[in-house]
Amino acid sequence: MPTALITGATAGVGMSFARALARRGYRLVLVARDAVRLSATAALLHAVHAVEVTTVVADLSDHADIERVAAHVEDPSLPVDLLVNNAGFGPRQLAIDPGLVESDFALDVMCLAVRTLGDSAGAAMRERGHGRIVNVAMLATWIAEGHHSAIRLWVKAYSDELAAELAGTGVEVTALLPKWLRSEFHEGSAFSVSAIPERVWADADRCVAEALAELDVDGAAAVPG
Ligand SMILES: NC(=O)c1ccc[n+]([C@@H]2O[C@H](COP(=O)([O-])OP(=O)(O)OC[C@H]3O[C@@H](n4cnc5c(N)ncnc54)[C@H](OP(=O)(O)O)[C@@H]3O)[C@@H](O)[C@H]2O)c1
Repeated sequence: MPTALITGATAGVGMSFARALARRGYRLVLVARDAVRLSATAALLHAVHAVEVTTVVADLSDHADIERVAAHVEDPSLPVDLLVNNAGFGPRQLAIDPGLVESDFALDVMCLAVRTLGDSAGAAMRERGHGRIVNVAMLATWIAEGHHSAIRLWVKAYSDELAAELAGTGVEVTALLPKWLRSEFHEGSAFSVSAIPERVWADADRCVAEALAELDVDGAAAVPG
């Protein structure tokens, strides 16, 4: 039974990955901050899909927590076959706002954690000669939302770099570039999404189903919808 470790697995895209991979029989390792919601998610997935689910309570803006999750990724006693680097949050600040504490958190959660877990998984998977890493980025990086678009472009570039380094090793790396998805992500955002036309919104479950179908076929970056 293959194992998938998913960050941000309790809502939106991460929850959709957890459900879809449980349906495929994956053993799951779920990562998020809210311990109560994490346990409830794990219990539900186990009850519905009869798969083994482990939880790791971690705040990926905390460097020690990032290292703790990386230790799970590297643990040879529970090899991770699929890493989904998904955790993220929507910007509530402009780039020029004073005291960019939130931007520092965003860089930690959506760059440092992605890089640390991606590098750890890449090295461990290369040793075993197989594995897949999916880094969730974003399609609409031409829209300025604080530092968010720059962060998402970095995730795409990092994925390309890791994919090139791991080419021919049996490890595939993909940047997933979703369009706008209705989730908790936009709650409290400083940027109004009301002007975004209905037709460009996508459904997270469908986005993930289409992404997994593309990943079954080849290792290229998937652009669902
Ligand atoms: N929604 C969109 O329109 C959209 C479009 C393109 C790309 N994306 C990307 O898709 C990814 C998921 O977005 P989503 O819409 O599914 O978001 P979401 O519904 O807000 O879910 C975010 C998930 O990440 C976890 N999380 C947030 N901060 C965390 C932290 N510091 N440490 C650990 N876990 C954390 C949350 O759980 P806890 O709160 O319990 O930690 C939750 O499980 C993000 O990387 C986002 O940039 C989203």
